[in-house]
Amino acid sequence: MLSHVLRYFRFRLRSGNAHGLHSPFVFGLYTDVVLHTGHYAAFGPIEQRRHDLRQDQRRLRITDFGAGSQTGAGAEREVRAIARSAAKPPRLAQLLFRLVNRFQPATILELGTSLGLTTAYLAAASSRARVFTLEGCPQTAAVARETLQQLRLGNVQLTEGNFDETLPRVLAALPGPLDFAFFDGNHRYEPTLRYFEQCMPHRTDESVFIFDDIHWSADMERAWAAIKAHPEVTLTIDLFFVGLVFFRRQQPKQHFTLRIEERGLGV
Ligand SMILES: C[S@@+](CC[C@H](N)C(=O)[O-])C[C@H]1O[C@@H](n2cnc3c(N)ncnc32)[C@H](O)[C@@H]1O
Repeated sequence: MLSHVLRYFRFRLRSGNAHGLHSPFVFGLYTDVVLHTGHYAAFGPIEQRRHDLRQDQRRLRITDFGAGSQTGAGAEREVRAIARSAAKPPRLAQLLFRLVNRFQPATILELGTSLGLTTAYLAAASSRARVFTLEGCPQTAAVARETLQQLRLGNVQLTEGNFDETLPRVLAALPGPLDFAFFDGNHRYEPTLRYFEQCMPHRTDESVFIFDDIHWSADMERAWAAIKAHPEVTLTIDLFFVGLVFFRRQQPKQHFTLRIEERGLGV
């Protein structure tokens, strides 16, 4: 935990704001999408569901195929504990919503459904998008199904099982190219890079890949460095909590480190 805090301070020292952003693509994305704080009608019902999950005392038997939790959670957990610790907070989940809104992907993949809160944001951002979400824990996936039903989000296909088995299958059956991928499960070096490599043949030059918790551990920082160095990656934006990856050919390779909570544009 302490090292995570130290990594955050290091990030703060390196990171910038809109001032001096010479790439029009990055400037527009940062000022209109990342820093945007407006409210959309879809947010209310999803946040109500989060509120309910945060009170939910049902106990789930957890099947953990991933890197686990740094808090060392046991095999049984209450829904409310998962809602409080595993789910992305509103500001990050809403950033995903705005990114989908901005890029209008037809096909979205999410690795790590958990209780379905980010899935709901991804699906609610565009009813024309099809969201393929993967979750290894059956009891957690059952609660995610409730979330999606309650919010009447019919454009989601949830696949249960270990990513190691489900990801190749889901990728092979995608209806089209992979336009948008959110990697939010199994935060370790080797599987993160393996899932990234497996997704690569399905991407286009316009695809957006988002990696969660790129500074969560030294291992994840190593994975992020390898992703940045990949020859087909042309642009990355490190927002500390998440890293955005682009493959746009029309621009020279560049890496940005920007603050997500910046107020005011500094220009
Ligand atoms: C951080 S949570 C996802 C949170 C969710 N995206 C949100 O913000 O609402 C990660 C999820 O990935 C799942 N997971 C981790 N490793 C996995 C693996 N190898 N196969 C399948 N599921 C896995 C865990 O069970 C967990 O529910």
